[in-house]
Amino acid sequence: MTREYLVCEIDELPIGGRIVVRVRNREIGVFNVGGKYYALPNVCIHQNGPLCLGAVSGTLNASLETEWKLEWSHEGDILVCPWHSMEYNITTGESLPFRNRQLPTFDVLVHDGRIFVRM
Ligand code: FES
Repeated sequence: MTREYLVCEIDELPIGGRIVVRVRNREIGVFNVGGKYYALPNVCIHQNGPLCLGAVSGTLNASLETEWKLEWSHEGDILVCPWHSMEYNITTGESLPFRNRQLPTFDVLVHDGRIFVRM
């Protein structure tokens, strides 16, 4: 059964912020990326590290489009696992080194000045 769970008041999660909460026996990280909210499990797919406590950053990217030159991209969208630095896109849950591996994401809702996660 799906329910909404209170995360925090909206002013507790400003742009660029994150909060880690326990919901239904799981730790969830909720992030404000450019005014939109995203929720991910606080577990890295590599060795179960506390992913949501990692740095929020960007990433280096090289592709045909950049003529294989390294360029900094996705500033503020990337979460870096604090244990071994595996990178994830917060907005999609996608693991950057393993594009076929993705974290589950949770819907985040805002009403009455509060942020909720649906699980
Ligand atoms: S546990 Fe996250 S990179 Fe190893």
